[in-house]
Amino acid sequence: MILTEIDHIAIAVRDLEAAVDYYQRAFGATVDHREVVERDGVEEVLLKVAESYIQLLTPTRPDSPVAKAIEKRGEGLHHVGYRVVDCKEALKAMVAAGATPIDHEPRMGSRGTTVAFIHPKGSFGALIELVQE
Ligand code: CO
Repeated sequence: MILTEIDHIAIAVRDLEAAVDYYQRAFGATVDHREVVERDGVEEVLLKVAESYIQLLTPTRPDSPVAKAIEKRGEGLHHVGYRVVDCKEALKAMVAAGATPIDHEPRMGSRGTTVAFIHPKGSFGALIELVQE
C-alpha cells in the first residue's frame, strides 16, 4: 500500500472568505495554513481535520485551471490529495497501473510538499494529487 493517509479534500470556491467563514462556523474548523500558489493560479486555505485537511481553493487569475473548473462545472469537489511516502515512486506505480499523469515528474506543492497530479481520465473521473510531506 503506497497511500499513508488522505492528505486533503480540495473544494473549489468563488469566494474564499465566505467559504472559510462558513467552514469555521459550521464545523468549528480552524485555519492551519494559507498560501497563494502563483504557479497554479490559486489561493488556498487549509482547515485541519485530525491529520488531514479541507483545502478551500479559489482562482487568482482567469486562466488558472481552478477558474476553468469552476466555469465548467461550478463550485465543488475539485480533487483528492493522497499522502504518500515517496511521490516519485507512487507516481511510477500509478502510471504502471494505467493512470494518466498530468505531472510527469513530482514538483513543488504548497506548504513545502512534493506533489504530482493524475488526470481524472483513467482514474474513474477523480482528479488525484499525490502529496509527499
Ligand atoms: Co491539492
